[in-house]
Amino acid sequence: MTNPAPNRYPFSMPMGWFAVAESHEVEVGQSKAAYYFAQHLVLWRDEEGTAHVQDAFCPHLGAHLGHGGKVEGCEIACQFHGWKFDCDGVNTDIPYSDRTNRKAKIFTYPVVEANGFIYAWYHPHQEPPAWDVPIVEEIGGGEFVGPKRTSHVVQAAIQEMAENGVDSAHFRYVHDVNEVPVIHRYEADGHMAFMESTQKFPTPRGVVDGSICSTAHGPGVNIVRFGGIIDTLLVTATTPIDDQTTQCRFNFYVRSLGDAAVDSSVGDAFASEVDRQFEEDVPIWEHKAHLVRPALADNDGPFMKFRKWYSQFYADAISDERTVFPPPYWPDKMDETPAKATASARNRTID
Ligand code: FES
Ligand SMILES: [Fe+2]
Repeated sequence: MTNPAPNRYPFSMPMGWFAVAESHEVEVGQSKAAYYFAQHLVLWRDEEGTAHVQDAFCPHLGAHLGHGGKVEGCEIACQFHGWKFDCDGVNTDIPYSDRTNRKAKIFTYPVVEANGFIYAWYHPHQEPPAWDVPIVEEIGGGEFVGPKRTSHVVQAAIQEMAENGVDSAHFRYVHDVNEVPVIHRYEADGHMAFMESTQKFPTPRGVVDGSICSTAHGPGVNIVRFGGIIDTLLVTATTPIDDQTTQCRFNFYVRSLGDAAVDSSVGDAFASEVDRQFEEDVPIWEHKAHLVRPALADNDGPFMKFRKWYSQFYADAISDERTVFPPPYWPDKMDETPAKATASARNRTID
């Protein structure tokens, strides 16, 4: 008898608001398949313009509503036998029967559309939202232009990637920067965490002090404001595909310099630098063990503060069966190094 594979991480997926699509990806009257939170989902936009996120499978005989479900007004009709469901997932019509089926209900996720994203609230026990989605004021105000969008899929838990933010020392070794960021403030307040740091950036006019302020709103939404060279806004959306696979979307905005071509080239340069660094991190995240008790230097960043803050998002107990959680054996990934991963730029999309 073979032993079951050990858990990849001591935790499963955290609760929170998570982007499941960019707003522009779901048009009025359209239904679409998605897969997040280890669930098949249907995303659809009703004819009044409101976006909905529901479990994908029709409770009648299991058709996937993201592969042919038809939006009719504010309802979705299944392509298999025509049953209709409203935006709460209630069965409203069975075209060949006089009665509806009250037990046939589709689970419906709370949804908020903001900042160019469709966010769904995920909780492993389907409890209601515990906080609000932040509205990023700069977007749509006219002063900032964008977004420049990038997206990556990584074989790592969402927490592993977020931990990178408090790890100032890795910038020198993984990202080859001469000056590592200096963290001046790290504070957690309920579902939010604030971090302020400074970093020296080389520019054609000499080295300038850049400031970085990030505000995390739970595990799925992080708003990062960069100052010093040109004001830049980075709206990140990190979403669990399952408990060991994560999609990370970056939307970049820059404060307009009044010239569209300049704005666009500044946005491109900024996006590609952040993307370069992200891709350098990927092989580290995918191949690292999660250590419950890391051996830290006295001037490493606030790792344990970060982990304590993050632990509130797990509804289920975090496993303490082991202290080392290694990755699976991946023969096809044995030769992977940061340089090779960067060259292949896999899993990357930009528009
Ligand atoms: S499977 Fe959807 S109506 Fe039959
Ligand atoms: Fe990094």
